[in-house]
Amino acid sequence: MDHWQDVYRHTGAVWGDTPSEIARRAVTDLTSRGLHRAGLRVLDVGCGYGRDLAYLRDRLDAVFVGVDASPAALDLARDRLAGDPRVELYLARLQDIDLGRFDVLLAANVYHLLRPPERDLFRRLVLGHLRPGGLLYLSTASVRDPQHYGAGRAVPGEVHSFIDRGYLHFSTGDELADELGGLLRMDVLEEIEYREPRTDGGDHHHVSWIVIGRTPAAVDGAAHGAGDTPAKGLRRSPRDRRSNSSCTDGERWDG
Ligand SMILES: C[S@@+](CC[C@H](N)C(=O)[O-])C[C@H]1O[C@@H](n2cnc3c(N)ncnc32)[C@H](O)[C@@H]1O
Repeated sequence: MDHWQDVYRHTGAVWGDTPSEIARRAVTDLTSRGLHRAGLRVLDVGCGYGRDLAYLRDRLDAVFVGVDASPAALDLARDRLAGDPRVELYLARLQDIDLGRFDVLLAANVYHLLRPPERDLFRRLVLGHLRPGGLLYLSTASVRDPQHYGAGRAVPGEVHSFIDRGYLHFSTGDELADELGGLLRMDVLEEIEYREPRTDGGDHHHVSWIVIGRTPAAVDGAAHGAGDTPAKGLRRSPRDRRSNSSCTDGERWDG
């Protein structure tokens, strides 16, 4: 996590205003399913500085919750989202959250940062936070990533995992089908190649997996409903603490 604190502290909005590939796909997919005006509840885990929340907010009739473990990220997200009442931000590790049920869960480029036990917890989070018929939009690094795969030190006993500036795991399609296919109907499991310019001058070349999956549906169409917002185990902070950088994990980051 320190790595991400450093990135955001030194570079700020490191990928600028451009949304992630999976956020674009989410909008296209939700629109094609007729859900873009359905008043959805959307959770963005590992939301970073909020580039995807800003993009989704401008395109979907929905309410949004963003969660990230980096206070620097959430400070930037709060500024970017400018107190929009449709967006709530929480400082928390995704392993620790309990925020009720959502129609849509976005996880852009965060799964590959998780170690095996944390990936298990992520899968538990998917089961616990998506309503029946809810949609997961996930992107994660592929073993064919040309720039990052093999960079750093191999993690003993773990295939396709390395420690460079932080931990990175690279997935195969079979592995994702195993890990997520048991929980979800996998509508899309697709490898994409793209470049991502950084505001510090870097230009990253990625090969990543895109997953679009749906939990078993109790109902057809939108699985949404209102009022399911318990936020158990999270402390909501008074507004006057918004600039307190020592806020503890699991705290609402008021926008
Ligand atoms: C590669 S960045 C992607 C950020 C954002 N999804 C985007 O595409 O702009 C990964 C983000 O995940 C956050 N993160 C990493 N591990 C996390 C965890 N266990 N719980 C919550 N956030 C985490 C980092 O702080 C960072 O903001």
